[in-house]
Amino acid sequence: MNKIAQIFDSLDYGPAPEAPDQAIAWLDARGRRFGHFIDGKWTSPGKTFTADNPATGASLAEITDGTPADVDAAVKAARAAFKSWGALSGYERGRYLYAIARMIQKHSRLFAVLETMDNGKPIRESRDADIPLVVRHFYHHAGWATHLEREFPGMVPYGVCGQIIPWNFPLLMLAWKIAPALAAGNTVVLKPAEFTSLTALLFAEICERVGLPKGVVNIVTGQGDTGAAIVDHPGIDKIAFTGSTEVGKLIRAATAGTGKGLSLELGGKSPYIVFEDADLDSAVEGLVEAIWFNQGQVCCAGSRLLVQESIEERFIAKVKRRMASLRVGDPLDKSIDIGALVAPVQVERIRDLMKKGVAEGAVVYEPEGTVPAKGCFLKPALVTNVSPANTLVAEEIFGPVLVAMSFRTPEEAVALANNTRYGLAATLWSENINLALDIAPKLKAGVVWINGTNNFDAAVGFGGYKESGFGREGGREGMSVYLKPGWEKTLKAAAPDATPAKAGASRNPLDARHLDQTAKMYVGGRQARPDSGYSRPVLGPDGGLVGEVGEGNRKDIRNAVEAARAALGWGTVAAHARAQILYFLAENLDYRRDEFAARIAAQTGDDGADEVARAVERLFAFAGWADKYDGAVHNPPLRAIAAAMVEPLGVLGIVAPDRQPLLGSVALLAPAIAMGNTVVLVPSSRAPLSMTDFYQVLETSDVPAGVVNIVTGDSLTLAKTLAEHDGVDGLWFLGSAEGSAMVEKASVGNLKQTWTSRGLAYDLAAPQFAGDYLLAKATQVKNVWIPYGA
Ligand code: NAI
Ligand code: MG
Repeated sequence: MNKIAQIFDSLDYGPAPEAPDQAIAWLDARGRRFGHFIDGKWTSPGKTFTADNPATGASLAEITDGTPADVDAAVKAARAAFKSWGALSGYERGRYLYAIARMIQKHSRLFAVLETMDNGKPIRESRDADIPLVVRHFYHHAGWATHLEREFPGMVPYGVCGQIIPWNFPLLMLAWKIAPALAAGNTVVLKPAEFTSLTALLFAEICERVGLPKGVVNIVTGQGDTGAAIVDHPGIDKIAFTGSTEVGKLIRAATAGTGKGLSLELGGKSPYIVFEDADLDSAVEGLVEAIWFNQGQVCCAGSRLLVQESIEERFIAKVKRRMASLRVGDPLDKSIDIGALVAPVQVERIRDLMKKGVAEGAVVYEPEGTVPAKGCFLKPALVTNVSPANTLVAEEIFGPVLVAMSFRTPEEAVALANNTRYGLAATLWSENINLALDIAPKLKAGVVWINGTNNFDAAVGFGGYKESGFGREGGREGMSVYLKPGWEKTLKAAAPDATPAKAGASRNPLDARHLDQTAKMYVGGRQARPDSGYSRPVLGPDGGLVGEVGEGNRKDIRNAVEAARAALGWGTVAAHARAQILYFLAENLDYRRDEFAARIAAQTGDDGADEVARAVERLFAFAGWADKYDGAVHNPPLRAIAAAMVEPLGVLGIVAPDRQPLLGSVALLAPAIAMGNTVVLVPSSRAPLSMTDFYQVLETSDVPAGVVNIVTGDSLTLAKTLAEHDGVDGLWFLGSAEGSAMVEKASVGNLKQTWTSRGLAYDLAAPQFAGDYLLAKATQVKNVWIPYGA
């Protein structure tokens, strides 16, 4: 056979190397030593560590290890720049973002080659995926800057944002962080990951070249402790982090009680579900993209293959055949599929996890063939014979390792898919549109791909459910995490509550003509006595005893959470039907307004009529919202649409403020249940009787059992139990600054989303609480990608 015929026969590629000369020249021209980029200037290098090429082991440059003093200088520069940057018109800021996009596009190959040398990812990916997405991100956000005032009226930037990013998509994660922050009018201090700082430093030069005002973007290089110095710096107004769930939790705890904004994009163990009616060959190609893109070092990697039993054998055989044709090697070779992992420690970590999984019974398949002897290379691996408890099924591996399991029915697929503490992404393949669109809403993940995978676009929000974090990056949803309502910045400390009345001469609240009334808790649609067997007094303004309520404890909260979880089907009730029930609540409360007004007066001495009227109005308002607060259909430049589905958080704990015993609870309850959450409510601990009366309104308004549960008692004690409970998905706490800090800190276990008032005077009667402010807090967005159009 002649050579050409041989190649046709074997389909082997010759080497197709991308030249590194220009990237090397760029490094050489800078002496291969870098300081930080602070206040528009380069600092001289300090104590350094090396930037390595993981494919060769060669050292590329010396990078400065940022100190707290460096971070401080960067924060000061960002603070000084904030005033004038925030004061520019949106159009002016937009023009800078546009210029950045243009400039990166002009130097795209330099960025791509440098990225591949520093990170190890195939040039095919850095050239065709990472950098084009970076450019698209800056273009897209140039538009948001321009239209900010029109699209986000009344919203203002946070100020100085601290941004900490990982090494798997170094420049792309920088773009996802910096573009929206600047568009919204913030200034930033960004720390790239220690393994991959180089493209961030090249980006700093782009900022210089476009004449970005000094201090708007500051790049401080360093390792974990430099990141921690950013998190802890009191001059930072908001932290945005992408990285491991472990560090995400440290950051949640470190920012607790500081009032810093926080968005977290963390790990995942995303399911890749193949139904028996799928186009199997496409599903195999998708799978290659899902788990071997970037050597599997992708937070949303489809690392758990769930395949229907009827096609399992056939599909696995196809996967193995495809694995054999994946080429592992020099990432600068244009026809390489799998490059190098980022660093030796990651290779070790993956090997250790594999050993553990095998010891637990897993069977590992790797295709024939070799990988380069030097450098951080691993073969693609397929793991079978695993139970859901196997380490390789439960842990994020962050490497080229696919774990396969099978299922029989769609219900079983959903159960397996959701059986993880993570919730970043999910993929499903089926040629049956009914099945696909039935399954998508049942998957607990921030992104769902139907018959496709790893689709990303600047116009489409990306981010997780559960321990994959909170906040979104991309599109309108991503912009909103860099903005806050202007009025929030003007909140004053709440006036201390009037000194609690001392119990006066015990005055029976009921006169002799009436039977004794016992105010009970309300759990799972039933009145419940407290587990403790204790009651707490409710005193009137003059100190007289107005009544008694149960002293709730840990067990009562657990029962209430269990009831709320059992009622989660409320989230799938049609919005129209939820609205009807809220209208009914308003009607029934209005019907009993005199009685509720009298109860408020007895507990607080205030005229209760006005408060009842406002509570009725709030129920009515959120009934009106139930079927209107919905998502957009995004139109990315791909053959797909992304439907942004607004979903409830799940079980929401609400610890109501002490003041306004009725409105304080109803104003929070109404948006929560309008959006389909189920609630465990802790009413005012000083004046709880308005809400123990309220369950009679709930019962007469067709609210399904378990949708609203009421536990009375000490707010702080019960808030702590709710914060620590992994069955609670979100927690609102309106109370003291100390209590707020406690709630935020105690929420790290499952990274539940919290909203706390931090001792500030939130006036829930104000009109801004009748709309999207609370609706946004009661919901999370799932973007469902659906193939669409030609
Ligand atoms: P990491 O979470 O430690 O690193 C991410 C970034 O956080 C880096 O810039 C790092 O310097 C910084 N950092 C580390 N400790 C910090 C602290 N205490 N405070 C503030 N910033 C801090 O991730 P690492 O150690 O590089 O990788 C370990 C594992 O984490 C991976 O194997 C993978 O499983 C997971 N990971 C997940 C990512 C994702 O996007 N889901 C990204 C990177 C890692
Ligand atoms: Mg490197």
